[in-house]
Amino acid sequence: MSPRELPVVEFPAPVSAAPGAMSSPADARLTEFRPETRALPSFFVWTLGCQMNRSDSEEMAGRLLASGCAEAPSMEAADLVVINTCAIREAAEAKVIGRQGVLARLKTANPGMRVVLTGCSVRTSNRSGLAKRYPAVDMFLRPDEEPELIDRLGLASAQAPVGALAMTAATTLVKGAEVSDAAHLVRARADAIAAGAVLRGSAISAWLPIIYGCDKTCTYCIVPFSRGPERSRPFDEIVAEARALATAGYREVTLLGQNVNSYGHDLAPQPRFAHVQTQRTVGRAQDRTARPDLAELVRAVDAIRTSDGVPAIPRLRYVTSHPWDLSDRLIEAMADCPSVCEALHLPVQSGSDSMLRRMGRQYTIEHYLERLARIRDAVPGVALSTDIFTGFCGETDAEYADTIHLLETVRYDQVFAAAYSERPGTPATRLPDDVPAEVKRRRLVDLLAVQEGIGLERNRAWLGRTASVLLDTVVPPRAHSHDDDGDEEAASTSASRDAFANLPDGIAHLLGRSRENKLVHVAAPASLLGTEADVLIEHAGPYALRGRLA
Ligand code: 5AD
Ligand code: SF4
Repeated sequence: MSPRELPVVEFPAPVSAAPGAMSSPADARLTEFRPETRALPSFFVWTLGCQMNRSDSEEMAGRLLASGCAEAPSMEAADLVVINTCAIREAAEAKVIGRQGVLARLKTANPGMRVVLTGCSVRTSNRSGLAKRYPAVDMFLRPDEEPELIDRLGLASAQAPVGALAMTAATTLVKGAEVSDAAHLVRARADAIAAGAVLRGSAISAWLPIIYGCDKTCTYCIVPFSRGPERSRPFDEIVAEARALATAGYREVTLLGQNVNSYGHDLAPQPRFAHVQTQRTVGRAQDRTARPDLAELVRAVDAIRTSDGVPAIPRLRYVTSHPWDLSDRLIEAMADCPSVCEALHLPVQSGSDSMLRRMGRQYTIEHYLERLARIRDAVPGVALSTDIFTGFCGETDAEYADTIHLLETVRYDQVFAAAYSERPGTPATRLPDDVPAEVKRRRLVDLLAVQEGIGLERNRAWLGRTASVLLDTVVPPRAHSHDDDGDEEAASTSASRDAFANLPDGIAHLLGRSRENKLVHVAAPASLLGTEADVLIEHAGPYALRGRLA
């Protein structure tokens, strides 16, 4: 391991926080006399990107809260802004670059304000250029350095034993490039959980990280360089966290990882997992004998039951799966476990074998379709979703047509699509990025139009049926702005708002997801928030359903 080389920014002490000013007084009776002045900074976390980032942000916010800081309602009101970035496409990074002017103005108005930038935009390889790209930022942390936030800000104190300097981040080599190593994140998570220092964004659905990093070979993707190699959390720690979530009343848990399907391969073999005898069937060989896998984990979380024998967490999901590790064992677990939702997100990226080869995906369309057929067979009514991007290096009209053909064959419930965006340092930079931007965009628009028709047809199949919906959001009557503008949720919400314009007193416009992960709008008493309600579907759009309580 090479030493850490991040330049530590020297921060002036945050506002008036004299060392120990907020630590517990020796005499407990004095606690109530603790000054209520704003001694520590209030913070705001701006999160972009995937669910893993959201989960990481919950951990950072929890650490800040545990160190005595307060959460600010907005960026404008905060003394400390933490930006958790996504680097998957240039557009996600451009969004943050575009805010630098606003941040600089906020800093002029509040000279004590500090900005920390973390997430996938911060990599060992690009650190020297970051200050120029993000001039309003005071400190940069790689994703694996996030547990150090408190210490680096000088906020660790006697009352906040949640800093993490003891578990210093490290780097490793991936394809000759120095990248971060998530090994210590496993321990940092355990400490954060033990200290209660995770500020969960919802009291209904929880993220539960199970594996950090990515070992795959996708040539277009920045993640192996931003998040380093795969590191699994210990099996029992995950089950214990799930049990605690069940006790706390969570109704839904999503197991998280860049590649949840490869969970456990890096853990030590144990006699209790001797029955796990698997090899990968495609891609690079991997002996997983006697190590826990996702199937074991799913079964163990499903086995947390209430006294009447039903799953204590009624809904269990996992994202994201890579087709190369989608084992029969996992499909069987999905079919056997009542809590596992009837939905699977399985990114395909392209419908063309030659494209998949250039993308380094390690499977063929034939293999992928065989997996889907097996899942559909094992889990009747399963909803399928995928990721696709258009215009990757050398994509011909015929290869693009293969992707459209795949959509028409599979008939996904939902497709997340984008245009290819070359990412610095990825293997694909050695291939010519030769599909003109206009062609990438047109293919994307055409693909989305095809999928819109398919999504509508899939959703119409729900008309007249009853869906079990976990209601988790009250939709305010007036439009509100989204950071991730243009998303389907926002679009379907404004459409449904009109339908629910004049609701009687005591009835609210609620939003939730069915087990099949469909967005469902319903007019219902707000007291139903956090419960699973049966909703009779009366209206279907391409991205959401609408109904009434059954
Ligand atoms: N350009 C465009 N889309 C990408 N994705 C990953 N890397 C890129 C890139 N360089 C997409 C893939 C992945 C999803 C999270 O983002 O479809 O599954
Ligand atoms: Fe974005 Fe990927 Fe990083 Fe998630 S892991 S934030 S999708 S780059």
